[in-house]
Amino acid sequence: SAELWNSAAGVLETNWAGDHMVPSRRLYPHQWSWDAAFIAVGLAYVNPTRAWRDLRSLFEAQWPDGRVPHIVFDPAMSEADYFPGPAFWGVPAYGSRPAHGSTGIVQPPLHAVAAWEVYRRAAAHGAAASQQARAELEWLYPRLVAQQEYLTDRRDLGGGGLTAIVHPWESGLDNSPAWDDAMANVPADLSLLTVYRRRDLAVSDASHRPTDTDYARYVGLVLSYRAADYSDTGLTERHAFAVECPSFNAILGAAELSLAQIAGVLGHTAAAGGHRERAQRITSAIVSRLWNPDTGMFHARDVHTGKLTPARCVSGLMPLMLPDLPAGQVEGVLAAMRSERFGLPVTSYDRTAADFDTLRYWRGPVWINVNWLLRRGLLVHGRRDEAEDLRAAMVRLVHRNGHFEYFHPETGEGLGAPSFSWTAALALDLLA
Ligand code: DGY
Repeated sequence: SAELWNSAAGVLETNWAGDHMVPSRRLYPHQWSWDAAFIAVGLAYVNPTRAWRDLRSLFEAQWPDGRVPHIVFDPAMSEADYFPGPAFWGVPAYGSRPAHGSTGIVQPPLHAVAAWEVYRRAAAHGAAASQQARAELEWLYPRLVAQQEYLTDRRDLGGGGLTAIVHPWESGLDNSPAWDDAMANVPADLSLLTVYRRRDLAVSDASHRPTDTDYARYVGLVLSYRAADYSDTGLTERHAFAVECPSFNAILGAAELSLAQIAGVLGHTAAAGGHRERAQRITSAIVSRLWNPDTGMFHARDVHTGKLTPARCVSGLMPLMLPDLPAGQVEGVLAAMRSERFGLPVTSYDRTAADFDTLRYWRGPVWINVNWLLRRGLLVHGRRDEAEDLRAAMVRLVHRNGHFEYFHPETGEGLGAPSFSWTAALALDLLA
């Protein structure tokens, strides 16, 4: 509807900060990595120049080793505006970037997918926009490749061809039950929170947020990674958390397929073939390492123990995005999606689990971004009717309740931050 379209465009106007988009003015006042990818998809409809600007701002902060940081800090903000802030992360200067410009961890590499979507839409905005889009792709392509190489070379901590995340924040699914087993082995020193104070609770409802025990572990893991300036060498041995996430790796594979398309447009034909091969290898590794035939879903694997977590989380459905996923796994994921465990739109966690929590972040609530990715998966596998049902359910939820960060799975009530950028951006794509 025009009303929803206008309110979504309004959120993106309000949250634009000159050369980047903030996810939310109060709760997340810097630039976030995977948010920027979802945001670009929506900006492509209303302001493609800003879509490219936002992606550029993010990749201008790329590290020399290829990693794209999960937050790029806005120098106009102070340490008090967000925790953990720039000084806490203590990132050294690199390239032309001053010290304390970003965090040292990553987020899911959705940017090639986003860049390809923005490029595709540019045609509708005329010849000048198409030309700009091609120039932006030229600039982004080697940087996107370096991002993938960092993740596949430096972060294959398990040695099986998948990327391991070394902090729950890297998944974007911060307090998902998928990490509970691995996090139980991470020391939770609550006294850290008397030295370093949370700020999220000052600007949002504590019952919607991760707990203090979660935060003590989050802070401890940053301190551990920071201790060797975020080096990945020998990391598994000295760092308590290393996990292969099915969602992160599905996005890694999808990114290779978008890179193949980008390489094709730019005339790098041989490179395009290489990207497709890598996507296939990632898909095979996800199936052989993360599939549990007993649950009929994918699960996170703890690199330290080699064990799959038993938790059924939305991340375990995300490999549906991959076109080469074998039929048995496609059917399994579809059956799980249709079951009482997830519903429509899909919840972040199994509704029938004893610890399903309707309010707390990634432990139950409905999130638009992962549902948007699952809708892509349904389309990739030709399930047009189900994709349309999911699209309609998402539009209804946001129309009734507003552009919230996430939603109560039973009442639809908006939770977390209001006027949240990716919800608005993806609403534009769902309406277009
Ligand atoms: C937060 O601040 O909660 C973010 O999710 C961390 O990246």
